Amino acid sequence: MIRKAVFPAAGFGTRFLPATKASPKEMLPLVDMPLIQHGVEEAKAAGIRDMIIVTGRGKNAIEDHFDVSFELEALLEKKGNGDLLQQVRSVTDGADFFYVRQNLPLGLGHAVLRSVEIVGEEPFAVVLSDDVIDAPVPVLKQMIAASERHSAGVVLAIQKVPKDAVSKYGIIKGKKIGDRAYEVSDMVEKPRPEKAPSDLAIIGRYILPPSVFPALLATRPGAGGEIQLTDAIRSLIGKERVIGYEFEGVRYDAGTKLGFQMANIAFALKDPEIGPGLQAFLRKERFV
Ligand code: G1P
Repeated sequence: MIRKAVFPAAGFGTRFLPATKASPKEMLPLVDMPLIQHGVEEAKAAGIRDMIIVTGRGKNAIEDHFDVSFELEALLEKKGNGDLLQQVRSVTDGADFFYVRQNLPLGLGHAVLRSVEIVGEEPFAVVLSDDVIDAPVPVLKQMIAASERHSAGVVLAIQKVPKDAVSKYGIIKGKKIGDRAYEVSDMVEKPRPEKAPSDLAIIGRYILPPSVFPALLATRPGAGGEIQLTDAIRSLIGKERVIGYEFEGVRYDAGTKLGFQMANIAFALKDPEIGPGLQAFLRKERFV
C-alpha cells in the first residue's frame, strides 16, 4: 500500500527564464492546471493521500496553491459560481500536503533524501512533475499494480528513447520478464550514447522502498557532481527486486520549452471548452 508521494520541486527552472525568474516552474499551467497539480492529481488517482513537496526559495506559490483560499471561495460562493468553486476546492480535497526544504542544489537524490523524516519506514512514490503523462490508467496506479504483480520493492517508469537522447536520462540494463516489465540488473545516470546499456530511459515516476534512504546517505556525487537517485537505486539491486515498467500513456517532457508547448497543445485540443476553437484556428491559419 503506497500512501505517500514525494515531489522534488526545488529546481531553478532555468530553461524557462525569464518566466521562472519570480515564479516556480512547477506552477506553469497546462491549459488551466499547474504542472505540479497534474502530478498530485495522478497520485490521488492512485490512492495516495500524503503529498510531500520538496521546495526551496521562491516556491511559496506552490504552498499557497495547495491551501484553502478562503477569500476566493467566499467570493465564488457569493457570485453563485458553483463550477469554479468546485474546481478550486478540488485542488486541496482528498490530500494532505507536507513541505520540506532542499536548501542546497545537490541533486535529485539529495532532494528525495530530504523527505526521509516525513516518509519514515514505508514504501513511497516519487513524482517528477516535469514529466507529464497522459494515460488511460494513471501511471502511478499502473506501477503500484506492477510492484504487486512482480513483488518488486522498486518500480521505475521506463520508456524507449532515441539513441542520441540517452545522455539526458537514467538508462537501465534489463531483461524483459513480462508484457511491459524488465528485471533491472544495472542502471547508469546520463551515459554517453556509446556507453549506454540500452535505450530504455527512466521517466519521472518511481515506487521506492524505505531502504533507499540509507542508500542515498551513502551515495557520493555522480553525474554532474550531484547526488543521483539513479546511483542510490543501483546500489539496491540484489537487495531489492528492481523492475522497469514500460507504462502505457503519452509522456511529455514539460521541463523543456518544446515538450511543454506540445503538452499544452495536446491538452488544449482535448479540452471540451477550448479544443474545437483551437482546432478551427490551427486549420484556418494553416498551421495544420
Ligand atoms: C532525472 C533523473 C533521470 C531521469 C529523468 C527523467 O533527471 O535523474 O534518471 O531519467 O529525471 O525525467 P533530470 O531530468 O532531473 O536531469
